Amino acid sequence: MAEVIADLEGKSIILGLTGGIAAYKSAFLARRLQEHGARVQVVMTAAAEQFITATTMQALTGNPVYTSQWDTRVPSAMAHIDLSRGADAILVVPASADFMAKLARGAADDLLSTLCLARDCPLLVAPAMNKQMWGHPATQRNANQLRADGVVLLGPTSGDQACGEVGAGRMIEPDEVLEELVAFFQPKLLRDQRVLLTAGPTFEPIDPVRGLTNRSSGKMGYALARAAHEAGARVTLVSGPTALAVPRGVNRIDVETAQQMFDAVMATVLHAQIFIGVAAVADWRIREPSAQKIKKGRGSPSPVFEFVENPDILATVAALSNPPFCVGFAAETHDLDAQAQAKRHTKRVPLLVGNLAQDAIGADSSELIVYDEEGRITLGPADKLTLARKLIAEIAQRISS
Ligand SMILES: Cc1cc2nc3c(=O)[nH]c(=O)nc-3n(C[C@H](O)[C@H](O)[C@H](O)COP(=O)(O)O)c2cc1C
Repeated sequence: MAEVIADLEGKSIILGLTGGIAAYKSAFLARRLQEHGARVQVVMTAAAEQFITATTMQALTGNPVYTSQWDTRVPSAMAHIDLSRGADAILVVPASADFMAKLARGAADDLLSTLCLARDCPLLVAPAMNKQMWGHPATQRNANQLRADGVVLLGPTSGDQACGEVGAGRMIEPDEVLEELVAFFQPKLLRDQRVLLTAGPTFEPIDPVRGLTNRSSGKMGYALARAAHEAGARVTLVSGPTALAVPRGVNRIDVETAQQMFDAVMATVLHAQIFIGVAAVADWRIREPSAQKIKKGRGSPSPVFEFVENPDILATVAALSNPPFCVGFAAETHDLDAQAQAKRHTKRVPLLVGNLAQDAIGADSSELIVYDEEGRITLGPADKLTLARKLIAEIAQRISS
């Protein structure tokens, strides 16, 4: 059975709602937080109640919703103190311009603002407002003040706004808030390290409409990019064609062929302290792809292609005069131990991660065998994000020693 770890298991989150159109999205967020293991306690401003009811939030969380500092349901009658004690974080989603202004000047004239001022846990806020409100010097001043005060701002982003305008100030989506919160709680094992990864398959053209590729989904590489970002690294992901969404905070460079992947890696690798080659790179390409679609014709011979070898990205990076810490991946169908150890030696990398292609490729969970000069250890079976976090911990431990 693959091990599945709920990202927010045991975490107690105060979810604050303020008066903005995006308040309806917090209903979905409340569900998602709980699906990931968190206990959610909702606190709403009076304006938030104009947009979504406390009943909805109570029904979704299974906990009474607090809206007033004069609420006598809290035994001490001091909801502004009691609610935040024991909380792992306060998450204000959406955060109105007005509420940000209150936070910036330390106002405490309702339950949520008083709770934020009296807290002894981290505060994360997701601004949501019209573009003029967000761009106003006062709001920008307040946002900078909040950052300086250690408040974590999640977004905002740009896009369509409820008022019909398009611009900056749109709240990030609930799943993005969730991803940011999960990342916030991960240990910062690679703080400020620069990590370069490759992921996905490559695609070698035969003609303008056909090509050679492989079954790699990119899931393991993308999970590692996310885990490295969660661990505090600055991450660049050179990706072959996949349908996956880029993890938040990760800089993705899209490529198609092995040569393009090689060029993109070589252009950025000098800045990297860690290189993780997860991509399933084509070993060969067709020497001269046809400029036109190859047609079949009655009686015409089947095409014959001449192959040339692609550059070896991992071996080239490992052979640099001052190489980053290099981690290679090997997906093999048989003799995994022997093949992976041989690959580690020929490519001269300190860490080689092996998995069985038939189990791993395209799957959501897998098992990784990590080979180094001391031998082998097994990670998993687990879902790929859990495996990625474990592997990042292995890498961080080796770098620090
Ligand atoms: C229909 C409507 C939509 C609003 N949407 C937003 C919004 O998206 N963001 C925002 O900052 N303010 C918005 N406001 C204004 C806030 O609701 C108002 O500033 C309120 O005082 C905020 O109170 P609070 O910060 O205590 O929740 C909106 C007001 C109305 C009437």
